[in-house]
Amino acid sequence: MSSMWGNKVKVSLFGESHGKGIGVVIDGLPAGIPLDLEKIQEHMRRRAPGRQAWSTKRDEKDIASVLSGLYQGKTTGTPLCAEIQNTDTRSLDYAELAEKPRPGHADLTGLARYNGANDPRGGGHFSARIMAPLTFAGAVCLQILEARGIEVRGHIFEIAGIQDTLCDGMSLPESVAEKEMPVLSDEQGVLMAAAIEAARMDMDSVGGIVECIAAGFPAGLGRPIFDNIESRIASILFGLPAVKGVEFGRGFAVALAKGSENNDHPQISEKGIRLTTNHGGGIEGGISNGMPIVVRCAFKPTSSIAKEQDTINLTTMQNDKLSLKGRHDPCVVPRAVPIVESAIAIALLDLMEEG
Ligand SMILES: Cc1cc2nc3c(=O)[nH]c(=O)nc-3n(C[C@H](O)[C@H](O)[C@H](O)COP(=O)(O)O)c2cc1C
Repeated sequence: MSSMWGNKVKVSLFGESHGKGIGVVIDGLPAGIPLDLEKIQEHMRRRAPGRQAWSTKRDEKDIASVLSGLYQGKTTGTPLCAEIQNTDTRSLDYAELAEKPRPGHADLTGLARYNGANDPRGGGHFSARIMAPLTFAGAVCLQILEARGIEVRGHIFEIAGIQDTLCDGMSLPESVAEKEMPVLSDEQGVLMAAAIEAARMDMDSVGGIVECIAAGFPAGLGRPIFDNIESRIASILFGLPAVKGVEFGRGFAVALAKGSENNDHPQISEKGIRLTTNHGGGIEGGISNGMPIVVRCAFKPTSSIAKEQDTINLTTMQNDKLSLKGRHDPCVVPRAVPIVESAIAIALLDLMEEG
C-alpha cells in the first residue's frame, strides 16, 4: 500500500481508522527550523471531528505526539515522526460491511486489491482519519513556508451548489480559518450549513469545492511537461479521500474563454514584472510565474449515508440492501479545508526544496 509522497520532502502516512494509532514520517525537512507545536495542534483542530454540529460524533482529540526529528524545538533534519492515538473506535458499527460493501466507498475495491487482508474497520487505511497525520505534516510545512513569506489559505468555494463570495484570486484573509464554516460570506455559510443539515435529515449527503490560494510563491520553480507544478499539486490532492476534481486558475472555464480574455498580461510595476490578471492560477508552462497559485478541489458527497441503498451480499452472493448506521459526515467539505491547505503546503515545500 503506497502512502508515500514527495521527491525531496517525503511524507509517509501510516495506520488504520480503528487500529492503535495513525501517524506520519516526514523526511527531507530543512534542519534547524523552529516549530510552534501549539500552532500545529491548532491547525489540526480545524480538521478534527466535532467542530461543526453535524460532523461525525467520533470523539477524537487528535493530539499529535512527536517521536523524533525535533530537538530543542527545532527540526533536526532527520525524519520527523508524529503519532496520533485512536481513542474512540466503535468497530461493531462496521460489522455488516464485511459482507455488504458500501456503494461509493473503498470496501469492494479494497477487497479486490488486498484479497480481504486489509483492515475494514472504519474504512481502515482508506479512512479520512489518515488525513490527521497529513494535516500534521501540512502544518509543519505551512510554518516553514510562512517564514519564507508564503501563505497558503483555503475557504469553502461551494457546497451543494451554494457558492461563497468570489475572492479576488490574489489572497484570502487569515480570519477565514478560525470560522466554523470557513467562508468569506457568513450569509452564504449559513445557507451551506442549512443544505448540509437538510441532507442529514434526509439521511443523505452533499459535496462541494474547496478553493486554496498560495500567495508569495516565487517565480521560476517547477518544470515543464510531466513533473510540472500542476501535476505535482494534483497528484497529492487526488490522494485525499473523496476528491474527484482539481482545477487551477480559471480551470475548466478556460474552455469557454477567448485568448484575449484569458491571457494574463505582464506589466512592469514597482514590484518588478507582474501580471495584470491571474487566470492561469500562478502557473505557466508548469513553472510558477510569481502570481498566487489558485487551486480548486471538488469533493464528492459522502458515500456512507443512512438512506437505504442497493448493494450486494458477499456471503449469499445475492443483491441486497444497506442502511448505514455508524458516525459519518453528511458533508466532508468544511473539514477538508485544512487538509487541502496541508496537501498544497507539502507540495510547495517539496518543489522549493527541489529547486
Ligand atoms: C474530511 C473528510 C471526512 C470524511 N468522512 C467520511 C465519512 O464520515 N464517511 C464516509 O463514508 N466517507 C468519508 N470521507 C470520504 C471517504 O474517506 C472516501 O470517500 C473513501 O475513502 C473512498 O475514497 P474515494 O472517495 O477517494 O474514492 C471523508 C473524506 C474527508 C476528506
